[in-house]
Amino acid sequence: MKMGVSVKLVGFAFLVGFFFTVVHSAIPSRQKLQVRKHLNRLNKPSVKTILSSDGDKIDCVPIHHQPAFDHPFLKNHTIQMRPNYHPEGLFGESKVKVGSKQEPRSNPITQLWHANGKCPSGTIPIRRTKEEDVLRASSVKRYGRKKHRSFAKPRSPDPDLVNQSGHQHAIAYVEGDKYYGAKATINVWEPRIQQPNEFSLSQIWILGGSFGEDLNSIEAGWQVSPDLYGDNNTRLFTYWTSDAYQATGCYNLLCSGFIQINSEIAMGASISPVSGYRSSQYDISILVWKDPKEGNWWMQFGNDYVLGYWPSFLFSYLSESASMIEWGGEVVNSEVDGQHTSTQMGSGHFPEEGFGKASYFRNIQVVDESNNLKAPKDIGTFTEQSNCYDVQTGSNSDWGHFFYYGGPGRNGNCP
Ligand SMILES: *[C@@H]1O[C@H](CO)[C@@H](O)[C@H](O)[C@H]1NC(C)=O
Ligand SMILES: *[C@@H]1O[C@H](CO)[C@@H](O)[C@H](O)[C@H]1NC(C)=O
Ligand SMILES: *[C@@H]1O[C@H](CO)[C@@H](O)[C@H](O)[C@H]1NC(C)=O
Repeated sequence: MKMGVSVKLVGFAFLVGFFFTVVHSAIPSRQKLQVRKHLNRLNKPSVKTILSSDGDKIDCVPIHHQPAFDHPFLKNHTIQMRPNYHPEGLFGESKVKVGSKQEPRSNPITQLWHANGKCPSGTIPIRRTKEEDVLRASSVKRYGRKKHRSFAKPRSPDPDLVNQSGHQHAIAYVEGDKYYGAKATINVWEPRIQQPNEFSLSQIWILGGSFGEDLNSIEAGWQVSPDLYGDNNTRLFTYWTSDAYQATGCYNLLCSGFIQINSEIAMGASISPVSGYRSSQYDISILVWKDPKEGNWWMQFGNDYVLGYWPSFLFSYLSESASMIEWGGEVVNSEVDGQHTSTQMGSGHFPEEGFGKASYFRNIQVVDESNNLKAPKDIGTFTEQSNCYDVQTGSNSDWGHFFYYGGPGRNGNCP
């Protein structure tokens, strides 16, 4: 059953915002005006604002006023309040045995802002974009977008594609089939970032098409990105593009595309707590799958939160199916003074160290044509420089297919 709700755009609030800008800055610099206008487009009028202890403002925005509806193709869109189908399978719901030796305690993860309030139903929580956030970007237009291609291309014959502008990966992947989704439980850490223009993330990639200018990608996981958020907190994020990170797509809700239905989880908000070395371990589950009926790509966080969906029309290849799934870490190595960055991936420790020390992905699964979750076949691994960041796969009955990944970056063997 889907609940039909028609969508009306409210232009009044934008006009008020724009008028305010013009009246209150006597001689606004061109850039300042541009930034204000962009903020007025991004930050929708809210019914309530929750102040988070990390300095974020979480706006509770009426579901019909979210950024998605700025998209011309979504003007008459009927929001789907739930998916038609949900994938089923072995690790479909959590079957973690608590207390067994290898298992982390099944620690619930929340978002930091939850300590200070809730959004009313009928609204969605959106992290408010600050002026400083936009000013840190190279341009207003680039704000919220990746600067470079961000997937790994295993066994690429093209060196430019392998070492893409300092991006380094340690991933597991599958290819050569049609995929309709992927799932993983991802250990959560707060890796140290050496330079503010670098980032460290751990995510799932759902990729469609050949690795050309029209690559389609849906991405979700956690990241630390001082450039994007202005701090070193670990944050839940999503990304999408239908042209290899060029003109389409963005992080979170920073452009129109993703339609959020959930009132409890804010994209881009800090995850808390995070794991400690030889200490408590925390993980999050992420599932992305294609609704066989409408063709939209849905995302679920944990076992309880269906966040929303990317409408099928945003994509070309992914409107059919995905051709490759990747799981793992990525960092930017900006190579200051010819030295490898000491930006960490995962926990900052190599896979050999194992549970409680190295970061992991466990119960990695793919969704097949019949909407079943199943174990991936023929898992490959890839890393540009295994002395900097590495990956090691394994499988057992509790964790299904899993891998440890990451590393410290710069060290004696990674100068
Ligand atoms: C939206 O619906 C109106 C009225 O039915 C119609 O005139 C208009 O063309 C539709 N717009 C789009 C983008 O589908
Ligand atoms: C983030 O971490 C870096 C290095 O670890 C530090 O230099 C910087 O001050 C931190 N930034 C913030 C906003 O805390
Ligand atoms: C990537 O670049 C590093 C350092 O420049 C080099 O050592 C490494 O071999 C390159 N990796 C590949 C797969 O070309």
